[in-house]
Amino acid sequence: MTEPIGVAIVGCGYIADAYRHCLPLHGESLRLRGAFDRDSARLEAFCRHWGERAYGSLEALLADPEVAIVVNATDPHNHAPVTLAALDAGKHVYSEKPLAMTRDEAKALRAQAAAKNLRLAAAPCNLLGESAQTLWKAVRDGAIGAPRLVYAELDDGMIHRADYRNWLSRSGKPWPAHGEFEIGCTFEHAGYVLTLLCAMFGPARRVTAFSALLVADKQTDEPLPHPAPDFSVGLIEFDGGVVARVTNSVVAPYDHRLRVIGEEGTLEIREPWDYACPVTRRGVSQGRLARYLERRLGGLGAAKPLPMVRPPAMKPKRGEPTMDFARGIAELAEAIRASRPTRLDADFAVHIAEVTEMLQYPERFPRPALVESAFAPIAPMDWAR
Ligand SMILES: NC(=O)c1ccc[n+]([C@@H]2O[C@H](COP(=O)([O-])OP(=O)(O)OC[C@H]3O[C@@H](n4cnc5c(N)ncnc54)[C@H](O)[C@@H]3O)[C@@H](O)[C@H]2O)c1
Repeated sequence: MTEPIGVAIVGCGYIADAYRHCLPLHGESLRLRGAFDRDSARLEAFCRHWGERAYGSLEALLADPEVAIVVNATDPHNHAPVTLAALDAGKHVYSEKPLAMTRDEAKALRAQAAAKNLRLAAAPCNLLGESAQTLWKAVRDGAIGAPRLVYAELDDGMIHRADYRNWLSRSGKPWPAHGEFEIGCTFEHAGYVLTLLCAMFGPARRVTAFSALLVADKQTDEPLPHPAPDFSVGLIEFDGGVVARVTNSVVAPYDHRLRVIGEEGTLEIREPWDYACPVTRRGVSQGRLARYLERRLGGLGAAKPLPMVRPPAMKPKRGEPTMDFARGIAELAEAIRASRPTRLDADFAVHIAEVTEMLQYPERFPRPALVESAFAPIAPMDWAR
């Protein structure tokens, strides 16, 4: 039997509940030893709801020899200090995204992990989901011939007009609107497609981006001192020659379509946040009638769903997460056990952080921005080869 690896969560906010919900999916592999939040009311609510142990301080959590992996689920401004403290205490770290707020900060974290001979991995982990693995396998198997172009939308609707004040996590934490608007939707969301695209098409080499703050007054309860861009669009050129246009906004209507366009057709997933999202394929419209139908109806016949590489491992009920947030931690734990690199390792996380910063803050880089970081090719999941 596999000995479970001890995990502790730092940051008991909105998303910590989703992590806790997903951890039992990996019961054999991971054991939650406890949690800490510097806000004692939040910590108490989390631990009471889930029946978990509350550490009295970050130092106490980091001093627990049963904890091998620290899950950093703090808000992004606290990612770097908490990750550094955990590495300094000799813990492996799985960080929520973005790994850090700047490329340089991300590189410093990676250097510290290497100096300490510890693993550093980062969310998002939807690349490890059934839907993403099915898409990737279809690309590898030539389902659309040579891939050329990607259109990825991460438009989340007008969040500031939505009733987000009523969005509560399982232990009662409100969705952190203030923080999300200050961090920016690109920092918050781009990773969900960048991880897929970088894994499939190789490191990004050049980024040409534009971002803007379109709605400065988000009508938050407290004013936003530094609202981040709420719209970005970037063109990413990959090593292998594929070009991707990635759009992020909390302005345009909800649309999370990811389309990979090849010489022989297009693959599409409508929701990269859903591990069970079908992957559909549509062929290229060639003849006159087919092109007419594409103009009028969007294509000849329905786009065909491809068989999933395996049935989705999670079956969420209404209101439950559609992503297994703990799969990245389980992947890290398996990598530690097997002494192999983890698929979401520090090089990959630095690369995603760098490209994300280029998308959200293009003015910080030359134009086009040349991506410095790279990563070793990532292996598909064993069950998706
Ligand atoms: N909200 C979402 O829908 C969502 C979804 C996926 C991922 N994420 C990511 O998860 C992370 C957390 O997001 P959230 O929505 O849960 O934020 P949140 O603001 O609700 O929770 C963050 C928690 O971290 C705690 N914290 C901050 N610094 C700390 C420190 N030094 N020590 C201990 N506790 C500390 C805060 O008190 C707070 O309770 C972010 O990186 C975010 O990008 C959020």
